[in-house]
Amino acid sequence: MKGMRILVIAAAFVATTVAHGQSSAQPQAASKMPAWVEPSAAEGRALAFDRGKGNCLSCHEIKGGELPGTIAPPLSDMKARFPDRNELVGIVTDETRRNPQTVMPPFGRNLILTDKEISAVVDFLYTL
Ligand code: HEC
Repeated sequence: MKGMRILVIAAAFVATTVAHGQSSAQPQAASKMPAWVEPSAAEGRALAFDRGKGNCLSCHEIKGGELPGTIAPPLSDMKARFPDRNELVGIVTDETRRNPQTVMPPFGRNLILTDKEISAVVDFLYTL
Protein backbone atom coordinates (compact mmCIF):
# COMPACT_ATOMS: atom_id res chain seq x y z
CA MET A 1 0.00 0.00 0.00
CA LYS A 2 2.74 2.40 1.01
CA GLY A 3 4.71 1.71 -2.16
CA MET A 4 1.60 2.36 -4.22
CA ARG A 5 1.05 5.75 -2.64
CA ILE A 6 4.64 6.82 -3.37
CA LEU A 7 4.16 5.70 -6.96
CA VAL A 8 1.01 7.82 -7.31
CA ILE A 9 2.76 10.86 -5.85
CA ALA A 10 5.75 10.34 -8.13
CA ALA A 11 3.47 10.05 -11.17
CA ALA A 12 1.66 13.24 -10.21
CA PHE A 13 5.00 15.02 -9.82
CA VAL A 14 6.20 13.88 -13.25
CA ALA A 15 2.88 14.93 -14.81
CA THR A 16 3.11 18.45 -13.33
CA THR A 17 6.74 18.82 -14.33
CA VAL A 18 6.03 17.75 -17.91
CA ALA A 19 2.98 20.02 -18.18
CA HIS A 20 5.02 22.90 -16.84
CA GLY A 21 7.87 22.29 -19.28
CA GLN A 22 5.52 22.38 -22.24
CA SER A 23 4.01 25.76 -21.39
CA SER A 24 7.16 27.70 -22.36
CA ALA A 25 10.91 27.18 -22.64
CA GLN A 26 11.64 29.98 -20.16
CA PRO A 27 8.41 30.60 -18.23
CA GLN A 28 10.02 32.89 -15.68
CA ALA A 29 11.85 35.18 -18.08
CA ALA A 30 8.90 35.29 -20.45
CA SER A 31 6.45 36.25 -17.73
CA LYS A 32 8.50 39.36 -16.94
CA MET A 33 8.12 40.66 -20.51
CA PRO A 34 5.67 43.48 -21.16
CA ALA A 35 2.52 42.19 -22.86
CA TRP A 36 3.28 43.91 -26.19
CA VAL A 37 6.51 41.99 -26.78
CA GLU A 38 6.28 39.23 -29.42
CA PRO A 39 6.92 35.66 -28.25
CA SER A 40 10.15 35.33 -30.27
CA ALA A 41 11.50 38.50 -28.62
CA ALA A 42 10.70 36.95 -25.24
CA GLU A 43 12.57 33.83 -26.30
CA GLY A 44 15.46 36.02 -27.49
CA ARG A 45 15.56 37.82 -24.17
CA ALA A 46 15.76 34.50 -22.33
CA LEU A 47 18.60 33.39 -24.64
CA ALA A 48 20.45 36.71 -24.31
CA PHE A 49 20.28 36.56 -20.50
CA ASP A 50 20.95 32.81 -20.24
CA ARG A 51 24.48 32.32 -18.93
CA GLY A 52 24.73 29.01 -20.78
CA LYS A 53 23.73 30.55 -24.13
CA GLY A 54 24.12 34.20 -25.16
CA ASN A 55 25.34 35.52 -21.82
CA CYS A 56 25.28 38.93 -23.52
CA LEU A 57 25.08 40.57 -20.07
CA SER A 58 28.63 39.53 -19.27
CA CYS A 59 29.79 42.31 -21.61
CA HIS A 60 26.76 44.51 -22.48
CA GLU A 61 24.38 46.62 -20.44
CA ILE A 62 20.86 45.60 -21.45
CA LYS A 63 17.61 47.09 -20.14
CA GLY A 64 16.18 44.78 -17.46
CA GLY A 65 19.41 42.80 -17.02
CA GLU A 66 21.28 42.70 -13.74
CA LEU A 67 25.03 43.02 -13.05
CA PRO A 68 26.12 43.72 -16.62
CA GLY A 69 29.73 43.90 -17.73
CA THR A 70 30.80 47.18 -19.32
CA ILE A 71 33.54 46.02 -21.70
CA ALA A 72 31.14 46.42 -24.64
CA PRO A 73 28.76 49.21 -25.71
CA PRO A 74 25.32 49.21 -24.02
CA LEU A 75 22.67 47.62 -26.26
CA SER A 76 20.03 50.32 -26.68
CA ASP A 77 18.27 52.23 -29.46
CA MET A 78 18.89 49.26 -31.68
CA LYS A 79 16.26 49.98 -34.32
CA ALA A 80 17.50 53.53 -34.85
CA ARG A 81 21.16 52.55 -34.91
CA PHE A 82 20.78 49.31 -36.88
CA PRO A 83 17.84 49.71 -39.29
CA ASP A 84 19.26 46.84 -41.36
CA ARG A 85 18.26 43.64 -39.56
CA ASN A 86 20.90 41.64 -41.47
CA GLU A 87 23.64 43.74 -39.93
CA LEU A 88 22.53 42.71 -36.43
CA VAL A 89 22.21 39.08 -37.47
CA GLY A 90 25.77 39.36 -38.86
CA ILE A 91 27.14 40.88 -35.65
CA VAL A 92 25.63 38.17 -33.44
CA THR A 93 26.56 35.39 -35.88
CA ASP A 94 30.20 36.38 -36.21
CA GLU A 95 31.43 39.83 -35.14
CA THR A 96 34.99 38.86 -36.13
CA ARG A 97 33.95 39.51 -39.74
CA ARG A 98 33.49 43.22 -38.91
CA ASN A 99 36.25 43.33 -36.34
CA PRO A 100 38.82 40.51 -36.36
CA GLN A 101 40.08 41.59 -32.91
CA THR A 102 36.74 41.64 -31.12
CA VAL A 103 36.31 39.73 -27.87
CA MET A 104 32.65 39.06 -28.74
CA PRO A 105 32.10 35.32 -29.33
CA PRO A 106 30.97 34.37 -32.87
CA PHE A 107 27.73 32.81 -31.63
CA GLY A 108 26.69 31.50 -35.04
CA ARG A 109 30.05 30.27 -36.26
CA ASN A 110 30.72 28.56 -32.92
CA LEU A 111 27.22 27.05 -32.92
CA ILE A 112 26.52 28.48 -29.48
CA LEU A 113 23.26 29.77 -30.98
CA THR A 114 21.32 28.33 -33.93
CA ASP A 115 20.13 30.59 -36.77
CA LYS A 116 16.65 30.47 -35.26
CA GLU A 117 17.97 31.45 -31.84
CA ILE A 118 19.98 34.33 -33.36
CA SER A 119 16.83 35.53 -35.10
CA ALA A 120 14.98 35.52 -31.74
CA VAL A 121 17.85 37.41 -30.10
CA VAL A 122 17.68 40.04 -32.87
CA ASP A 123 13.90 40.32 -32.35
CA PHE A 124 14.69 41.02 -28.70
CA LEU A 125 17.42 43.55 -29.60
CA TYR A 126 14.82 45.47 -31.61
CA THR A 127 12.77 45.97 -28.43
CA LEU A 128 15.73 47.79 -26.81
C1 HEC B 1 32.82 38.66 -24.27
C2 HEC B 1 32.11 39.90 -24.42
C3 HEC B 1 30.86 39.93 -25.27
C4 HEC B 1 29.76 39.12 -25.24
C5 HEC B 1 29.53 37.89 -24.37
C6 HEC B 1 28.82 39.66 -26.20
N1 HEC B 1 29.34 40.77 -26.79
FE1 HEC B 1 28.41 41.93 -28.18
N2 HEC B 1 30.08 43.09 -28.32
C7 HEC B 1 31.21 42.96 -27.55
C8 HEC B 1 32.14 44.02 -27.89
C9 HEC B 1 33.51 44.25 -27.24
C10 HEC B 1 31.53 44.81 -28.87
C11 HEC B 1 32.10 46.07 -29.56
C12 HEC B 1 32.34 45.87 -31.02
C13 HEC B 1 33.50 44.96 -31.34
O1 HEC B 1 34.28 44.55 -30.45
O2 HEC B 1 33.66 44.63 -32.54
C14 HEC B 1 30.22 44.18 -29.13
C15 HEC B 1 29.29 44.66 -30.05
C16 HEC B 1 28.00 44.22 -30.15
C17 HEC B 1 26.99 44.83 -30.96
C18 HEC B 1 27.17 46.11 -31.77
C19 HEC B 1 26.83 47.23 -30.80
C20 HEC B 1 27.19 48.61 -31.24
O3 HEC B 1 26.68 49.54 -30.61
O4 HEC B 1 27.99 48.77 -32.17
C21 HEC B 1 25.85 44.11 -30.82
C22 HEC B 1 24.51 44.38 -31.45
C23 HEC B 1 26.15 43.04 -29.89
N3 HEC B 1 27.47 43.14 -29.51
C24 HEC B 1 25.25 42.10 -29.49
C25 HEC B 1 25.55 41.06 -28.61
C26 HEC B 1 24.61 40.05 -28.23
C27 HEC B 1 23.17 40.00 -28.69
C28 HEC B 1 25.26 39.21 -27.39
C29 HEC B 1 24.74 37.94 -26.77
C30 HEC B 1 24.14 36.98 -27.68
C31 HEC B 1 26.61 39.72 -27.23
N4 HEC B 1 26.73 40.84 -27.99
C32 HEC B 1 27.57 39.12 -26.43
C33 HEC B 1 31.45 41.99 -26.61
C34 HEC B 1 30.59 40.97 -26.26
